[in-house]
Amino acid sequence: MIQITSRAARIAAPAALALLLGACAGSGTGMRMGAGSAPGATAMLAPTAAITPNPTTGMVTFTPMEHGVRVAGEVRGLVPGSEHGFHIHEKGDCGNNGEAAGGHFNPAGGVHGKYGAAGSHAGELPSLVADSSGVARFRVDAHSISLTDGAANNVVGRALVVHRDKDDFVSQPSGNSGPRIACTVIAKS
Ligand code: CU
Repeated sequence: MIQITSRAARIAAPAALALLLGACAGSGTGMRMGAGSAPGATAMLAPTAAITPNPTTGMVTFTPMEHGVRVAGEVRGLVPGSEHGFHIHEKGDCGNNGEAAGGHFNPAGGVHGKYGAAGSHAGELPSLVADSSGVARFRVDAHSISLTDGAANNVVGRALVVHRDKDDFVSQPSGNSGPRIACTVIAKS
């Protein structure tokens, strides 16, 4: 039996909108390295000695958006299926197994809660959730932070921290998420 399908269910794509809006504000700084990367910041997470063994590593990029910063990347070496508190901390110091980074970055004087919740710390990020291979991938647009020199909410020079445990989003001031198993200082790229 031959069946002829004559459906022409094509949906015309609004091709004209494929162009990105000219959001790449020319900051005037010529990039010395190869093309392709927008000016932003990076964080290469390194394991602390808070647990052993500790294979936790990660690569996170911070890209300025019109309103806030896109935070994207992946963290590896986690226990498969595990959940981890993940925050920007106040001080750019990963000494003493990350404890030197101090509390959550909190320039507006908020209380600890979920990322994006009204009145929560600027440094809150969504918790990391590891897949079956122990890798957590994420991308989030954080509106409470910036990469702007001199701004109160600039995260460059502050620490990015992965905790051993799940964040309960209730305990103050940091969600009771345990030791800091990976840490690095966010640096301009
Ligand atoms: Cu933290």
